[in-house]
Order: sequence, then structure tokens, then C-alpha cells
Amino acid sequence: MKPVRVGLLGLGTVGTGVVRIVEGHQEDLSSQVGSPITIERIAVKHLEKYRSVSVDQTKLTEDPWEVIRDPEIDVIVEVMGGIEQTKSYILEALDRGKHIVTANKDLMALHGAEILAKAQEKQCDVFYEASVAGGIPIIRTLIEGFSSDRIMKIMGIVNGTTNFILTKMSQEGASYEDVLAEAQQLGYAEADPTSDVEGLDAARKMAILGTLGFRTNVELQDVSVKGISQVTKDDIAYAKRLGYEMKLLGIAERQDDEFSISVQPTMVRKGHPIAAVNGVFNAVYVYGEAVGETMFYGAGAGEMPTATSVVADLVAIIKNLKLGVNGLKAIVPYKLKKLKTDEQIVYKNFILLHVDDKAGVLAQITQVFAQHDVSLESVVQQPNEHNPDAEIIIVTHNASKANMDKVLNHFEGLDVIRRIKSVYRVEG
Ligand code: NDP
Ligand code: HSE
Repeated sequence: MKPVRVGLLGLGTVGTGVVRIVEGHQEDLSSQVGSPITIERIAVKHLEKYRSVSVDQTKLTEDPWEVIRDPEIDVIVEVMGGIEQTKSYILEALDRGKHIVTANKDLMALHGAEILAKAQEKQCDVFYEASVAGGIPIIRTLIEGFSSDRIMKIMGIVNGTTNFILTKMSQEGASYEDVLAEAQQLGYAEADPTSDVEGLDAARKMAILGTLGFRTNVELQDVSVKGISQVTKDDIAYAKRLGYEMKLLGIAERQDDEFSISVQPTMVRKGHPIAAVNGVFNAVYVYGEAVGETMFYGAGAGEMPTATSVVADLVAIIKNLKLGVNGLKAIVPYKLKKLKTDEQIVYKNFILLHVDDKAGVLAQITQVFAQHDVSLESVVQQPNEHNPDAEIIIVTHNASKANMDKVLNHFEGLDVIRRIKSVYRVEG
């Protein structure tokens, strides 16, 4: 049996896991695909770096082009990261008839449409299961498992680093900085963790899920994004007191053919399944018109969970090779893109205000909500031992984003409000 020859771009956290699984599960893998799988070449940045997995040094190169242009290689596994340069490696590999597995959500969110079009032209596969929610097979699930349904809502905890941080802040009272350093050490965070904590990593993953779920070409600029760097321990404590967990939640929802998509810290009612997703775990909740509620849960980052998805893609490519069916476009984003307006985007809000502690303040504040047609679910005023002002905690009923923006703008000019301390979306 002729082996299937793989070129690996990157031998970091994920690449190391790929080598471990391809070598450690070789018998099982080759029995599934009918050929041995060999890793022929590996591109790295630093040849001399210590590796926690043993590899034949002669396979290593610092030049990814050597791997891409090697005529012996059938499949390129890209676990190197990067966007523009990496895109040029992948396009060239496709031009040379090589199939691609990538874990690179940055690349797929920005250039997925172009790469997939090239793959179809060249009758090659490009699989990217690990790019969203690491070890959870959510991409295959959306493409295959939901092929008969109409997806109405996708909610995702799709960034392990921020879920790890929020969980530790909530459960252990740990500081944001300490937990972020721990997440970096464990290999969860991106090389530059700004994209994790500012929500960009989650936004890219949500753009990929939105495209697959809504059959339309969701682009990164369609996702409204807010990260967790402004979330305080106090905010988390308020959330808990009111019966919520704070989560960085991606939410893609549609009504008829219009959709909205966002990533923001969200207070999720305890009891909703996604509120119980802690640590580096990810979860994707999918509501299908026919099937109703479903949820998919697992490790969202880390060496072995991510490598599991990468190698599963490799197996799928090799099975397609055997059947001669590579390059079939699984999802055609055929629908015209229609984004909801701010008037159509509707959800509940939590607002924490610091206000003058004097007569009539509450009446002025509730009047502003009424003026902009925002109905209130609850209003609580309480003294704050660290602060001479009164704190007012408000939870609204469902309100349009447009009306809530008007309320918050109005508050900016209201003398009795000292500070709009926090505003969060509420779910569940
Ligand atoms: P790492 O930073 O751990 O590894 C990157 C690897 O690529 C390293 O081996 C590095 O070489 C090599 N590399 C980087 N730049 C070059 C270059 N220009 N030429 C040759 N080699 C290069 O990244 P991860 O393994 O964490 O992530 C890889 C990809 O997988 C990224 O796209 C990431 O977003 C994605 N991903 C990561 C997950 C995770 O849990 N870590 C989960 C899901 C997706 P050297 O070792 O010599 O420095
Ligand atoms: N930095 C990412 C995370 C890695 O924390 O989820 C997985 O994509």
C-alpha cells in the first residue's frame, strides 16, 4: 500500500499533537483509510528549538516553500498560523493539486471564500474543522448533521482562553492578568492574546459558523465585537448575585432571511446549558427550526483536542482520495446577505449606574427608558460601601439595540448619573 504523504507546516502546540496522533494511532488510522500515513516534511521557524516530540531532524526545514513544492507530498497540514503569507502557501499548494487541512480561523474567516473557490477549481479538499472550537466537530455537524434543517440561532463559547479567564475570575476570584498568563503557558492563548481577550478570535470563529449555518457569506466586518478586557470582578459578582454567569458569547441569529451576529461579554441565566460551560471548554448551542435545541461541548483549545480534529480532517481527505471525490463543495453560501438593522436586533440588557443619592433620581432614570420605549424587568437600588453614590441595577425586557443606544446616549447628558458603570447583554 502506497503511503499518503503529509507535509506539516508548524510544529508548535497543535503540530506536536498532530505528530503524536499520526504516530500513536497509526494502526487505527491506516486501517480506516487503507494506507499508512507518513509525515514527510515539517516546516518550523527555529530549526534548533527543543521539541517535546521526537522527529527526524532531516525532515525539518525553515522554508515552508520546500514543503509546498515537494512533489512527493499529497496533503498539507497547516498549523503554523499567520494570514497573508500563509494564504500564499495554501493557494500555491492547491495549484499543485495538494489537499489542505488547516486549523487557522484567522485565515479561513478572512480568505475562506477565495481558498474554497480555488480548492473547487483544482478539485482539492480544504478542511478546517479545528479552526472553530478546537476538539468539537462542529463544522462537520453544521455541514452534515444540520443539512436537513434551518438553523435559526447559534450561540457559542468559542474562545477557550477567555472562558478560562472568566471562569477563574468567577470561581476563584483570580486576577485577570494572572489567569491570562496561565492560559498562555498552557498553550490556549494566541501568540498575541489581544485577539483572544478583545473578542477577535471568537468573532472570526463566529463568521465561519455563521457562513455555514446561514448559507450566506458572513464576513468579519459583519460581526459586532466586544471583548472581556473591561469586565471586572465586580461585574462578575453582580452577575452571580442576579443568577447569571458572565460568558464571552458569540450569538448569530436570524429571522426570515435577515441575520445579526455579534461577540460580547454576556450575562447568561444559570440553568441555560451554556452557562455551565467552564474553564477552557467550548460549547456551541444550535437552535434548528425542526430539531429545536442542541448543544455541542468539548475542549476548545490545547494540543491533543485540536490535533484530534486536524487528523480527523486528514482521514476525511484520504477517504475522499480513495473514492475519487475530493473538491466537492459541501456548503454553497447561496443566500443573499441581509444584515438586521439596529431596530431589528432585540435582546435584554443589564445596566449598572452610579447615581446621585437623592430624591427623584430613580424617577428621572425610569422616565428615560419610557421615553425610548424600553420596558424594565427589574430595578434595584442599593448603597455601595466603597462609594458615596447610589448604585442602580436595571434589567430590561427585550429592547431593540437602537432604542438602548438612545437610552445610553440620553444618560450621558443626565446630571444625576455619575457613571454608566457597566452594560451587558442578557441571555436565557
Ligand atoms: P504555535 O505558535 O504553538 O506553533 C506555530 C508553529 O509554526 C511553530 O512550530 C513555529 O515554529 C511554526 N512557524 C511559525 N511561523 C513560521 C514560519 N514563518 N515558517 C515556518 N514555521 C513557522 O501555534 P499553535 O500550534 O498554537 O497554533 C497553530 C494554528 O492552530 C494557529 O492558526 C492557531 O490559531 C490554530 N489553533 C490553535 C489552537 C491551540 O489550542 N493552540 C486551537 C485551534 C486552532 P517554531 O516551533 O520553530 O517556533
Ligand atoms: N486561542 C484560542 C482559544 C485557541 O483560546 O480558544 C483555539 O482556537
